[in-house]
Amino acid sequence: MADFLSAYSVQQWLESAPQGYLMNTEYGHPPGEKEPQLVLGDPLLHEQAIRTTVQLVVGERCALSASSGLINAAPDEASKRFLATQTLDEARHTEVFTQRLYDLGVAKADLESTIRRYANPNLVKFAEVLLEKIDRKDFVAGVVGQNLVLEGMAFHVFELLQAGSQAVNPKFAHTLSGTIADERRHVGFGENRIGSLIRENPHRKADVEKMQKEMSYYMLATFADSFRARPAQEEMARLRRETGGAAAKSEWQGVDLSELEPREMEAVLANTVLGEFKRRLERIGLEYQTPVRP
Ligand SMILES: [Fe+2]
Ligand SMILES: [Fe+2]
Repeated sequence: MADFLSAYSVQQWLESAPQGYLMNTEYGHPPGEKEPQLVLGDPLLHEQAIRTTVQLVVGERCALSASSGLINAAPDEASKRFLATQTLDEARHTEVFTQRLYDLGVAKADLESTIRRYANPNLVKFAEVLLEKIDRKDFVAGVVGQNLVLEGMAFHVFELLQAGSQAVNPKFAHTLSGTIADERRHVGFGENRIGSLIRENPHRKADVEKMQKEMSYYMLATFADSFRARPAQEEMARLRRETGGAAAKSEWQGVDLSELEPREMEAVLANTVLGEFKRRLERIGLEYQTPVRP
């Protein structure tokens, strides 16, 4: 518990995040960085950027509600303090991705209608499954649903997006690197805190596993929808050539993303996230439940 207390303390959070990797950033990136002309000028890429960013805002709003809701459900003081730091992290994520929508030209008055228009219905359902546990102050299910499932997913999606933006959009890649560092801490807390609670409450296993299966299903359905909405590979290749970005390699999980069809990219992402769920759930004593493939 002593290690747990110092690793997830407010002091540790201050030193590593606000006074560490977030120092001198403005909405998550070095001041002055802008969205590239490539994204702003091409209607196809522009709409794709807005659509993707809306999913990030939807996911982060859910994480903000969940982490703040879990503070009062937590059985111990150290977890409450950690969740307070996480609440601020999630508020920051919500803010930086909302700011990205403004940077992409979404008017402030149109924010909510833009989110409603592009929010993936399967992602909304994914969030509802989790928030229902939070409403019932179910700490065990809430932490598994948020810190392992939601954040395990977010972590890999951010990494994939970061690999794809590094060469063509440093501003977005920088914004993502801070959120990736935060999510890594949140996932670590979930795994560390929940293992002992599952051991103490073995009767909770079945319904927590059921929630994981349900959330995994909606996650896979969200991935399927997103990759189907992506511009076709030839279109992307043309844009890269026209913008001089053709030489840019974007590697993730050992594969060159620019070589992949959207379907193949969906498979790499889904398999990476599910493989990670499986390993983490086993470590905390839960059995991974395979959802049907949407
Ligand atoms: Fe987040
Ligand atoms: Fe998080």
